[in-house]
Amino acid sequence: MTISVTINGQAYQREVAGHRTLLHFLREEVGLTGSKEGCGAGECGACTVLLDGLAVNACMVLAVEVDGRKVETIEGEAKGGTLSAIQEAFNRHHAVQCGFCTGGMIMSVRELLARNPKPTVDEIKEGIEGNFCRCTGYQQIIEAVLDASGQLTGKGGVKYA
Ligand code: FES
Ligand code: FES
Repeated sequence: MTISVTINGQAYQREVAGHRTLLHFLREEVGLTGSKEGCGAGECGACTVLLDGLAVNACMVLAVEVDGRKVETIEGEAKGGTLSAIQEAFNRHHAVQCGFCTGGMIMSVRELLARNPKPTVDEIKEGIEGNFCRCTGYQQIIEAVLDASGQLTGKGGVKYA
């Protein structure tokens, strides 16, 4: 089947097999490898992308399902070589270690902040509950989200216990 899809603002028209996942389509046919394959079973969140603004596991969506829709991936996060506010905050708070989870994590955070610009710590935990990170212990990620949403006061002014 031929699909037409907008990815990070760019239009693509491609022939895809019915069984092809969106994740494999993005990585192998479009060349966008920022979305990672961890579990391949909807469990880890490393493949998270936005589909019409909603965070989805790209390993659980078929490429044919995105026909006529809008996909955003981590490659679209920085604009013109400038990191987004979320990426800057992750950087500042050392919320990136091996980086395997980071692309998917940031896409979930982007969705969270779009619908809830000032999330509480509990809401942040809920927003990223589908994204596993084996490195950071999550604390730095939560700090980064608080910072990106303008909720940290001063350097190191972490407001939660
Ligand atoms: S690779 Fe998609 S959820 Fe783990
Ligand atoms: S930074 Fe390594 S899994 Fe999250």
